[in-house]
Amino acid sequence: MSDAADQIFATLKQSSQSGAPLYLQLRKSIEDAVNRGLIGPGDALPSERDIATKADISRVTVRKAVQDLVKGGILVQRHGSGTFVAPRMERVEQSLSRLTSFTEDMARRGMAVRSAWLDRGLYAPSPDEMMVLGLSSSELVARVSRLRIANDTPLAIERASLSASALPDPAGIGSSLYAALELTGNRPVRAVQRISAANLGDADARLLEVPPGVAGLHIERISYLASGKVIEFTRSIYRGDAYDFVAELRLTGPSEEGRP
Ligand code: GLP
Repeated sequence: MSDAADQIFATLKQSSQSGAPLYLQLRKSIEDAVNRGLIGPGDALPSERDIATKADISRVTVRKAVQDLVKGGILVQRHGSGTFVAPRMERVEQSLSRLTSFTEDMARRGMAVRSAWLDRGLYAPSPDEMMVLGLSSSELVARVSRLRIANDTPLAIERASLSASALPDPAGIGSSLYAALELTGNRPVRAVQRISAANLGDADARLLEVPPGVAGLHIERISYLASGKVIEFTRSIYRGDAYDFVAELRLTGPSEEGRP
């Protein structure tokens, strides 16, 4: 990386007359170098001290620029080993018109899927769960919370709630909730999904291996059986840099206007 580093910091010296604060100039030089491919995912940045010497600026200025880039997800810092260009996220394009499971979506793309369990068990339902799943306070809810990982990158945190009568043993679902529901004839056939923007809180960001506060997607899915009964109420947080949700739109004829 030393040639590339020299180029970055040489550019900084040339442009240091522009009047913008030095840390912004350094931040831009590093960002440009990443965008132009001079330094790539996984490449190590020189130490703060080296950058400061090469660019002839203070270490405080270097630290400020680097911290900004870490916050923005361009660089990552690993304790004890230094600062690196962040791995590039391959964005997943996800259709909004097919009712598929995470396992199926990733398998179709040839990605290896695994999950880390965050929680699974039977609980007294929350007011939200009672309302959406139509449970009374004497019934139990089955909760299945997982960190969903594809090709070793954590993509989403999914917290699913189902009535305990539909999923009496949440610990026994194996790797796919929908596959387990299929076995008992409880796989949903229709779902309503609500997507909204969210900034990731500390705990979620840590699980998804992104800096706290970065953009994410909050997705709520309510799924139904053919009978019209709600089977699944899932709240998920997806990494904003990993997903493109795609919806196909069609022009409706006058006879279809106003239909839900
Ligand atoms: C998607 C949906 C979830 C659903 C999950 C099931 O990710 N957003 O609502 O619970 O798929 O996935 P799997 O069958 O892989 O557990």
